[in-house]
Amino acid sequence: MKAIAVCPGKADSAHVTDVPKPAVTDVPDGHGVLVRVLRVGLDGTDKEINAGEYGTAPDGEDILITGHESLGVVEEVGPAVKEVRPGDLVVARVRRAGGSLYDLIDTPDMTTDEAYFEHGISRVHGFLREYYVEEPRYLIPVPAALRHVAVLLEPTSVAEKGILQAYDIQRRLKVWHPRRAAVLGAGTIGLLATMILRNRGLEVTTFGLEQAPYLNSELVEAIGASYVSTRETSLAQVAARGGAFDLVFEATGYSPIVFDAMCGLLAKNGVLILSSVTGGMRRSEVPSDAINLDFVLGNKVMFGTVNASREHFEEGVRDLAITETRTLGWLSRLLTHPIPGLDRYDDALAALGEPGAIKVYVEVSPDNG
Ligand code: BGC
Ligand code: ZN
Repeated sequence: MKAIAVCPGKADSAHVTDVPKPAVTDVPDGHGVLVRVLRVGLDGTDKEINAGEYGTAPDGEDILITGHESLGVVEEVGPAVKEVRPGDLVVARVRRAGGSLYDLIDTPDMTTDEAYFEHGISRVHGFLREYYVEEPRYLIPVPAALRHVAVLLEPTSVAEKGILQAYDIQRRLKVWHPRRAAVLGAGTIGLLATMILRNRGLEVTTFGLEQAPYLNSELVEAIGASYVSTRETSLAQVAARGGAFDLVFEATGYSPIVFDAMCGLLAKNGVLILSSVTGGMRRSEVPSDAINLDFVLGNKVMFGTVNASREHFEEGVRDLAITETRTLGWLSRLLTHPIPGLDRYDDALAALGEPGAIKVYVEVSPDNG
């Protein structure tokens, strides 16, 4: 069967390859689930992997099958599988368990292992292939009514984890009634974080570079949030005018903005969520005394978040459903660039950089559902 693979560490190495079709018996004791892949979304991580800057092949192999944002349909299950049935729609979790305490309790997103396992990214093959076989504990069932938008579930789970953990952390305050949230970045993660925070009833301001109106600013406004272009108005100006923010979600991919957010933007007792994976070597000079003082005197918190575990995918399913009910068609508007078939993978990579691209995804096999 066909798959898309890279040679990790080598730039522009993405290619179509032929690999054996997996079988349910590849997982011992009857626990295998054979999944036919329908759609796979791409993001900046895939771009970095194809640039040779990120990504690790499985032990003893030279290539890595890429793709981590999947949607598939169960075709066959082993005799011990009770959780899913043929015909069910599933999204696969990205991390697999390693050896740390956190892996043991099914939260590999919190692993402390140096070498961790992420499908399509690190040490395990990804989903840009016609079929994969997985254990039920790594599969999230998706309601049929969300079929057309469920390829957004993996990036949604990443935003959910950050926001749920912020609420957990804020239990330190005994009473926390966040009113104003800021989302930095209006790409896929920024838009999905805006959606989740709006579903929770917060007043949300989402910051992007581009000047409004354009698709992303229209999407922000369509769910009742406000869009601000940082070309026109700085973070500090917005905070000075309307007040500081109880929760800030950073998803720009531009690390210097973190320090601006720490100082001017975050309210007393506020929480700042960092979600950008910045693989570069950027350095910046910061007003360290002012930032430190502000954090100490304001009881502020900042934390990093990566990946997601089952509960975040499940919360993501609920938020996608709420949004489909409240603002039908909003999620579909994020699916800007469908790429038909694995053979057109080059087009998918090129589309990632195009203006107007939000979610680029490969239609791996025909979806007749
Ligand atoms: C993926 C996450 C992953 C992270 C770091 C992101 O693009 O969506 O699942 O943990 O990259 O590799
Ligand atoms: Zn990703």
